[in-house]
Amino acid sequence: MAYILVLYYSRHGATADMARHIARGVGEIADMEARLRTVPPVSTVCEATADSVPPSGAPYAELDDLRHCAGLALGSPTRFGNMAAPLKYFLEQTSSLWLSGALAGKPAGVFTSTSSLHGGQETTLISMMLPLLHHGMLLLGLPYAETDLFHTTAGGTPYGPSHLAGTNSDLPLTEAERRLCQALGRRLAQTAATLKAGQARNQA
Ligand SMILES: Cc1cc2nc3c(=O)[nH]c(=O)nc-3n(C[C@H](O)[C@H](O)[C@H](O)COP(=O)(O)O)c2cc1C
Repeated sequence: MAYILVLYYSRHGATADMARHIARGVGEIADMEARLRTVPPVSTVCEATADSVPPSGAPYAELDDLRHCAGLALGSPTRFGNMAAPLKYFLEQTSSLWLSGALAGKPAGVFTSTSSLHGGQETTLISMMLPLLHHGMLLLGLPYAETDLFHTTAGGTPYGPSHLAGTNSDLPLTEAERRLCQALGRRLAQTAATLKAGQARNQA
């Protein structure tokens, strides 16, 4: 079955929680499923090699997960207003996909979690968009038809879903944040399905 890759890094669980809600939204669209994948942490000890399977949670992503996806949701906690190094490290191993144009024309969206409300949600979202634009992906945000964008007092931006996790990283997702995560999942899956149907018609 065609799948949307929900690829994220999360140290304290907030971004992982968002990923699960995005996956729920994907699952609402017929003939589309979500594939949840994460990336290993990076270490300053170059000789250290992470186990190939994480101790818990989603498996680590392989390049083929990315190569064969119908669409991508990419998520990272904010790190000084930017995406986290482990996700950037993974993306910097995707040159072969860039050379072959494997991701060009596929829909993509981004999501993030921060400890403070004005601590860089939008900049982090945009930092994740840049490499996806180089790959030729079609970026989707959230339209204001998702009326939670007007009323949220926590996360939620037109550039993609976001979450305010608080200084102790322990605030749960608000209802509005959850709905916006699911909306991105639905939107990605619906767009991927429409593009796929169009390609099938063109080939017929
Ligand atoms: C090195 C580092 C840098 C961070 N930079 C920011 C920041 O610029 N703005 C912010 O609001 N939170 C910042 N945080 C907090 C995380 O973004 C926040 O706790 C996030 O919700 C963690 O997501 P997770 O639970 O998925 O790991 C930083 C955390 C670390 C460890």
